[in-house]
Amino acid sequence: MSQYPKMTELKFTLNGDERKVEVNPNETLLNFLREDGLMSVKSGCGGQGDCGMCTILLNNKPVQSCLVKMSAINGKSIETLESMGTADNLHPLQAAFIETGAIQCGFCTPAQILAAKSLIQKNSNPSEAEIRKALSGVLCRCTGYVRIVDAVTRASAVMRGKEVPPYIPQEMKFGENIGEINLPEAYYRKDGNKAPLLPLILTPNGMKQLSEVGKSVKKVDSVKLATGKPVFTDDVQPDGMLYGALLTSPHAHAKIIDINVSKAKQLPGVHTVITHKDVQRVKYATGGQSFPQPLPHDQASLDNKVRHVGDRVAIVAAETQEIANKALQLIDVEYEILPHVLNCELAMSGNAPIIHDEEDTEGIYDAARNIVHHLEAEVGEPDIAFKNADAVFEGEYRTPKQQHAQMEPHVCITYFDEDNRLVVRTSTQVPFHVRRIISPLIGLPIKQIRVIKPRIGGGFGGKQEILLEDLCSHLTIATGRPVKMEYTRSQEFTSGRSRHRQIIRYKLAVKDEYVTGAELKLIGDTGAYGTHALTVNMVGGFKGLTLYNAPNSRFICDVVYTNTPPAGAYRGYGAMQEEFAIEVLMEEIAEKLKINVVEFKKKNWLKLGELMHLARKLGEGREGYDQSMASTAIDECVTVGLKATDYYKKRKAYSNESSDIRHGIGMSIMIHGSGIAGLDMGAATIKLNDDGSFNLLIGATDLGTGSDTILAQMAAEKLGVGVEDIIVYSSDTDFTPFDKGAYASSTTYISGGAVVKAANKVREMIFKHAAKMLRRKNHQDLILENKLIKTPDGKQVSLEDVALSSLHQLDQHQIMATESNMSYVSPPPTGAQFAEVTFNKKTGEMQIDRLLMIVDCGRVINPLAAAGQAEGGMAQALGFTMFEDTYFDDEGHITNDQFSTYKLYKADDVPPMDVIFVQTDEPTGPYGAKSIAEISVDGVAPALVNAIHNASGIWFRDLPITQDKILKSLKSD
Ligand code: FES
Repeated sequence: MSQYPKMTELKFTLNGDERKVEVNPNETLLNFLREDGLMSVKSGCGGQGDCGMCTILLNNKPVQSCLVKMSAINGKSIETLESMGTADNLHPLQAAFIETGAIQCGFCTPAQILAAKSLIQKNSNPSEAEIRKALSGVLCRCTGYVRIVDAVTRASAVMRGKEVPPYIPQEMKFGENIGEINLPEAYYRKDGNKAPLLPLILTPNGMKQLSEVGKSVKKVDSVKLATGKPVFTDDVQPDGMLYGALLTSPHAHAKIIDINVSKAKQLPGVHTVITHKDVQRVKYATGGQSFPQPLPHDQASLDNKVRHVGDRVAIVAAETQEIANKALQLIDVEYEILPHVLNCELAMSGNAPIIHDEEDTEGIYDAARNIVHHLEAEVGEPDIAFKNADAVFEGEYRTPKQQHAQMEPHVCITYFDEDNRLVVRTSTQVPFHVRRIISPLIGLPIKQIRVIKPRIGGGFGGKQEILLEDLCSHLTIATGRPVKMEYTRSQEFTSGRSRHRQIIRYKLAVKDEYVTGAELKLIGDTGAYGTHALTVNMVGGFKGLTLYNAPNSRFICDVVYTNTPPAGAYRGYGAMQEEFAIEVLMEEIAEKLKINVVEFKKKNWLKLGELMHLARKLGEGREGYDQSMASTAIDECVTVGLKATDYYKKRKAYSNESSDIRHGIGMSIMIHGSGIAGLDMGAATIKLNDDGSFNLLIGATDLGTGSDTILAQMAAEKLGVGVEDIIVYSSDTDFTPFDKGAYASSTTYISGGAVVKAANKVREMIFKHAAKMLRRKNHQDLILENKLIKTPDGKQVSLEDVALSSLHQLDQHQIMATESNMSYVSPPPTGAQFAEVTFNKKTGEMQIDRLLMIVDCGRVINPLAAAGQAEGGMAQALGFTMFEDTYFDDEGHITNDQFSTYKLYKADDVPPMDVIFVQTDEPTGPYGAKSIAEISVDGVAPALVNAIHNASGIWFRDLPITQDKILKSLKSD
């Protein structure tokens, strides 16, 4: 039988063009379209039909092209995003997605727009519910769908010929007492309206208005994302590219006795097969962190032992993905299966198999008990505080192994350039760490490696890990050919990273309603490897004991290996878990003491200027620095939240309900950080062009957060131009200056500080040159605004004049500067989260009626982008609270490793999520900014648990609160 598939001639219309092609009728439409160069059609679930990223219109109906065989399209009409508007002539839907801030990473955007287009074709005035239903087949992990729904409403109005008002968040000023402010009626949500609200910004009187900073300017990358340009890693493929595939372990714990790859190598089309026998054994950690990476370095690119199902065994490069996958099946691996342990308490019991028995890993605290780190930190005298307390309260809380579930899987393409340097084009949050960390693994010097980060289709911490870059590089080095490797969706679960599962035990001493002592005993499950084991759990201890900052505090932590896929960095980074636990315990204590929980918290929460007692002892993986809060609005955020929800009135009324249908309201407070104090560093380069525009070169990585845009806004503000005159390029280790990357909520604060410093320097150079042009002795009194440099006596030159003069005429030089920024403080953003629920006490059915976050992230640089972070964060935290967890069978296989079994929120099941900003002016931040990305996940779980308790009387201390757990609790109630 021929190895070539039988071809069939098909006729169809593609984006308005008649096409007649000879194709394999069994090929999927998704493959055909991408091979045809229509890169707006994405793949997020490996052809399972679970994610909707590949949605196109087939005869005007949205369908998932991964599920459509070419044989089914004869005579039909196919439409992809490429058929819609262009950058100069956007379709109203594309324009609305851009204007409303509905695009974050943009990976889902083409599919969302097409689904919306089909709806509006059928129904020109769809209701909100109809829009949500129409979008429900396309997942989005970034946005919480709030702005997407609004974008579709807006576009449908435009398409009906209606005038729509500018999409601008409302700003209100407040004075001494924020409680006196009357919020616009909609923010009280009294009328049962559930439609998305624009974010509201509350600004203290006297805070200076700026021209570019503080505006919801369109994201600098939004047009290319809305028009489906090929901007992601896999959208541009080098000629002659091979396809890589990864063989993973089917066993939770086993020694590799032998591997025979001869059959795989003989398969036609296979170029190389690599196992641990073929690569040098170099120990490292996969976490992309600053030098030196925290110990233990317990992994090798390919090892002779596997420690979890999904662990790396061998890699293959072949002419096609199908051949590469087939070759994997031909590799014979002889395993000696070892006993395994999946539960972290059992793993540390002393009676469990030893997961890391190798001799060449340094830095494991107690390998025999699988304890990778044992941490202890103490301030004051906790035991005396417990002894002298009026009462001591204890609580145990458990949190799940949540998956990042970003829509774009990990993907990487490697090749040698014309200078024989290795280019690594990869979807990473940490390009500079990738370059440094893979260098010894692949045996090439750093100078021979160039890492390019294109647009990233979401990361949330998961792409702070170096998971494919070393493997793909090995394949390119072995074959001399470009190679692509991409995780399947299942591998995202089994071979990727996740949130740390934690067991959290708090003990609090309370005297006169003050928390005088605190003890946090934490067990963190790091899975099979210790990447981020130290830092995530240490941050959990620090934030979890600093929110109420008891003067006598103790942290005891064991981070434990299990034979499960490793945990890693994940938005919230430990703080989320501990803040959940302490915020529920504080509520439990208030209930037991019969005191007002808000007042109780207020007496105790961290105050302005107060020394954070554990800041020095619990730095992030090293000794920290003394810190106190220089800006905070916890008080104001809580006050606004109480008012916007009518908290006290509802709380009282709900406590008296007796029918089956109950209601509940709950609140929590939260703090986070802005970068890692004393460690994170970012740099920025700004260069003036002939026409007075600027290039902003940054190593920072925008993974959908909008950081490229807010950094451009900061530069524009300082340089007297609009954002359209700042051309942002990020990131390429050959051309952009160093940045530690996107993690630890550091980009706005750390990288933003570098941008402001570089812009200041460029501004100074512009002034000096303008002074020469204007024949003035000094330049100190010059003003730069609206692209003009003006003297007090009315003379002026333009930025273009200065550029042309400095480049071509007078004292010729390039006006350009590079500046670096780091900080010995990590100012916490602060906030309050409110949740409202309806609970059926008989059936256990629950509806979340509203989430409201009131947040202080310093000065809000771009309100729509910041609101997008808050909304998306709330949606992720909602999943963490309600149903997201990773489940294993007894042999260590994940039983929910697809989006069909690992549920994510969809457009039609997220509750209304509202955001109110209370601006502060952080003295150490660029333009007073702090961070927003991570605090947004910290408060949802406790606010919801407290609301459910208010409704049902039940405490849920073990997340997620699945329907099963609710039913069990009702039975035992
Ligand atoms: Fe929807 Fe990122 S914007 S997945």
